[in-house]
Amino acid sequence: MTVTTETKDAMASVRPIRVSIVSPTYNERGNVGELARRLDAVLGATGWEVIFVDDDSPDGTAALVHEMGRADPRVRCLHRVGRRGLSSAVVEGALAASGDLVVVIDADLQHDETIIPKMLVHFDDAAVDLVVGSRHVEGGGLGEWGAARVGISQFATVLAKFVLKADISDPMSGFFAFRRDLMVEALPNLSSIGFKILLDMITSVNRRLTVREVGYVFRNRIEGESKLDNKVIWDFLMLLADKSVGRYIPVRFLSFSAVGTVGLVVHFAVLTLMFKLMGLPFFWGQTAATFVAMTTNFLMNNELTYSDRKLRGRAMLKGWASFVAACSIGAVANVGVAEFLYAGDAEWALSALAGIVVGTVWNYVATAWFTWGRK
Ligand code: GDD
Ligand code: MN
Repeated sequence: MTVTTETKDAMASVRPIRVSIVSPTYNERGNVGELARRLDAVLGATGWEVIFVDDDSPDGTAALVHEMGRADPRVRCLHRVGRRGLSSAVVEGALAASGDLVVVIDADLQHDETIIPKMLVHFDDAAVDLVVGSRHVEGGGLGEWGAARVGISQFATVLAKFVLKADISDPMSGFFAFRRDLMVEALPNLSSIGFKILLDMITSVNRRLTVREVGYVFRNRIEGESKLDNKVIWDFLMLLADKSVGRYIPVRFLSFSAVGTVGLVVHFAVLTLMFKLMGLPFFWGQTAATFVAMTTNFLMNNELTYSDRKLRGRAMLKGWASFVAACSIGAVANVGVAEFLYAGDAEWALSALAGIVVGTVWNYVATAWFTWGRK
């Protein structure tokens, strides 16, 4: 191959990549261009690239990023189809990164990109593994957050500190930098559930990390809207559960059991209403309560426990039918086991508990297979 003067010049102007910026996007068409422009202004002399990890946003973010990439090869798109998830987007973006250093930043301009150079300086110290953009150290702040969101965030931070092996002020931050090797190290233990990839990474390595923090003020979103919803809170609790007891009990089972407990409350509410308040026969109250509870359990599990395999449309009807069938068998098993133990002289409460455990495990296994199993 002959290298012409022209290509030599072009190669000379290409800087080796030191830093890869990974930015997850979902409907951020109005922001990606501005972020790339700001990154250029801030990182100018440093060799950098930005990888937007887009989950096939309906607003066409991916197409726009591809177009940007044709004009500027430092801008890349990792286009994922049929998947959703902030954490997994960040993981895959980091794995696709060429730089030794990775900076994760939201695409919506809420994170203050001007602190990135300050974050990167910390890596001159070879011992530093991770630098977190923090809203809770000097120079940091929540911006114009409402009292409710401040409260939820503080509560979540306290919870997070229980499972954390490092003492950091803002474990919920979505703005942080690390050596790419750290992601590779954390990979085998990652949950990749939900939004909290920083927390996930820190708890997925088997050593204490050396962490630095740099303050920044969280900005308001101007273009597009937040994707944070109530599901995020559930995912967060599941992540904490996975990190604490996940080694012994699958989180899906925990989620399924939690839903079952809520179902019990639903059951008693319906029964009380029909039997106690409306004066209907106990048999009908109990029957109706069972069906209502099974149905709400099905819907809650579909939404929370199996959000990644959620049944929609007609598939929901079939799913509901198989759920009710499986749980009816579970109920028979429950009563059978309890009765067998009780007849064999076991304590009544213990017999009942054993029945419930057997019934729940059966329901979980059967519905994982028949209702939400991949066919
Ligand atoms: N690829 C992909 N897939 N990206 C997503 C998804 C998804 O399913 N959901 C959200 N994003 C992208 C958004 O487009 C945005 O760039 C970024 O992830 C953050 O999402 P927002 O919806 O703007 O979240 P937020 O502003 O409410 O919360 C942020 O701040 C919190 C507090 O620091 C996030 O950074 C949280 O992780 C962080 O805890
Ligand atoms: Mn945001």
